Amino acid sequence: MQFDTPATMNPIDQLKVVGQPIHRIDGQLKTTGRATYAYEWHDPNMPYAYGYPLGAAIAKGRIKSMNVSAAKKALGVIAVVTALEVGERKKGKFNTAKLFGGDEIQHYHQAIAVVVAETFEQARAAAALVEVDYAEEEGVFDLTEAKEAAVRPDESQQPDSAAGDFDAAFRTAPITLDETYTTPDQSHAMMEPHASIAAWDGDELSVWTSSQMIDWWRSDLATTLDVEKEKIHLISPFIGGGFGGKLFLRADAVLAAFGAKAAKRPVKVALPRPFMVNNTTHRPATIQRIRIGAERNGKIIAIGHESWSGDLEGGQLETAVNQTRLLYAGANRMTAMRLARLDLPEGNAMRAPGEAPGMMALEIAIDEMAEKLGLDPVQFRLINDTQVDPEKPERRFSHRDLAGCLKLGSERFGWAARGRPGSKREGNWLIGFGVAAAFRNNLLLPSAARVRLAREGIVTVETDMTDIGTGSYTIIAQTAAEMMGVTVDKVAVRLGDSRFPVSAGSGGQFGGNCSTSGVYAACVKLREAIAQKLGFNSDDVVFEDGEVRSGNRSVPLSEAAGVEGLVGEDTIEWGKLSETYQQSTFGAHFVEVGVDVATGETRIRRMLAVCAAGRILNPITARSQVIGAMTMGAGGALSEELAVDTRRGFFVNHDLAGYEVPVHADIPHQDVIFLDETDVMSSPMKAKGIAELGLCGVSAAIANAVYNATGVRVRHYPITLDKLI
Ligand code: MOS
Repeated sequence: MQFDTPATMNPIDQLKVVGQPIHRIDGQLKTTGRATYAYEWHDPNMPYAYGYPLGAAIAKGRIKSMNVSAAKKALGVIAVVTALEVGERKKGKFNTAKLFGGDEIQHYHQAIAVVVAETFEQARAAAALVEVDYAEEEGVFDLTEAKEAAVRPDESQQPDSAAGDFDAAFRTAPITLDETYTTPDQSHAMMEPHASIAAWDGDELSVWTSSQMIDWWRSDLATTLDVEKEKIHLISPFIGGGFGGKLFLRADAVLAAFGAKAAKRPVKVALPRPFMVNNTTHRPATIQRIRIGAERNGKIIAIGHESWSGDLEGGQLETAVNQTRLLYAGANRMTAMRLARLDLPEGNAMRAPGEAPGMMALEIAIDEMAEKLGLDPVQFRLINDTQVDPEKPERRFSHRDLAGCLKLGSERFGWAARGRPGSKREGNWLIGFGVAAAFRNNLLLPSAARVRLAREGIVTVETDMTDIGTGSYTIIAQTAAEMMGVTVDKVAVRLGDSRFPVSAGSGGQFGGNCSTSGVYAACVKLREAIAQKLGFNSDDVVFEDGEVRSGNRSVPLSEAAGVEGLVGEDTIEWGKLSETYQQSTFGAHFVEVGVDVATGETRIRRMLAVCAAGRILNPITARSQVIGAMTMGAGGALSEELAVDTRRGFFVNHDLAGYEVPVHADIPHQDVIFLDETDVMSSPMKAKGIAELGLCGVSAAIANAVYNATGVRVRHYPITLDKLI
């Protein structure tokens, strides 16, 4: 199905099931331990062996030699596979750093061997016996230093944008701001580590893994192993969190595949926790300079945003200026991003890549500018709201209600009670309120599904879509139930298997809208097949209460399916609407903090998010996404930072003791309100992304609340107490 005209009334609009607050259909499996995660697959007839990875102990250089003889003789060891034996491999399309093979070391903890043994403990003990002789080279590990040599990447990364004459307008603006903000390297820190089980059957490979994007992984695994894609079967029905860290093939799958080949046994490999930080990917640190010029009435006339980030050779920008291109009006504008070469582990997508760190800076700058203008920060944002793309005014937003979010949020939060900086105190606590806009683009990827009606009246959906804890199973079941006129318990959803049609996958907050749209398209096909089989006129056919009706005839679906059953399969594809209209999601975050007047410790007291993101397919799963994102934003504001050892070139705090994510006690109270809206340009579901929107702006709202509490403006995240005293 090509989606290229605005959605009209359709079966989804019945909202009997879609839009309902249905609990996760996979919830019981998870809470009772029956949902099988990658490392847990266990078939008693399979002679599993265990692989343990060895990571490079230098950040840059070459392996001169490896001595594995002691490891090979160790108790229980079946095989040792080294990067030198494996040799240089082709890199997957989505990988910047190579995953395994050859003598070149690109970053610390790059996988250089896998030891396979009868037990996990034996493999781990033997891995410690591998001797490696390196030729170490100097690397560059400090973004501040590397920034000077940063370059403008090629046009495909869209490094620059401009409209009007920024320099002239900024020079002459009556009120201006020119500040620099920094965000640190951050880690996905998901609960389930990267893990894979590989089993060869002749030249065919099955991999049970933990992947957000089945088809990308399958292609890249095929390239890396140099086998045909069709010979690889990936299985990943449950994923214990990803946050972008599992978008791209990682070393666990490659090591398991090589280990299994050498051991002639199925092999399990889980990356140890420290590898999660230094072997996989992270969100790159940024340095951001923001300049804003405004008239005294608060109208922005010049806005400029420059960002510097770093990555390995061939890497990507952290696109921290993306929102600034679209969020506020102003005729004269410029954005620019520059990429420095760093020899740290690979930088790549982490939840709301670009916009999350970009909003961390921009929304402090907006707060600072409001203060310079003597305007309330909510009012300043409303003055500069826009219904068109400010860089290309002929291009309208498909639907944009940032103003609605700010207004409703102010009212519900009690924003009017906000005081002047440093003016509110309760005992030892200085109290502050902060606000920030939320913004995240709405991305669209093709997504396919197959829907089957069996003679019991059961509807089975198959798509390689993944559920990374987001609720995919549930919203897909709701979509199919609505379309086929059955209750959710009549729908079986099968996900995360490369034998199913290729979906959008989970990423970029596109998964919910795109995968349900693919299921919608497949259900349209199935409805047509049913109507045709029954000789019904498909114009007046109705699917309701487990029956299909037309005129005065009605047939139970169980009967309509016949003995053979019926199948509908289709792909949703995105036409010109996504080009004609700017599609984005909006919100407003409000936060109250207390800052201890003696210690500088910041405690969040309450948080409110108001989101405008099209139809909400399920308010429970959507709320969970938003409160999870708000929690992540609290970590980003107050504690999360990968500490770089700038001499040795690695992230030092590579575990959950050193890399501090929020715990329950850090998050006392969260509210989420969804504006009741639909976006007919976005998809037949009239929905948009929601998961990453919830993160964008939160950290700045906290930073702004800390400023309002204390009068101390911190521009460098995280806002630890040393920066306040
Ligand atoms: Mo998200 S960073 O695209 O998983």
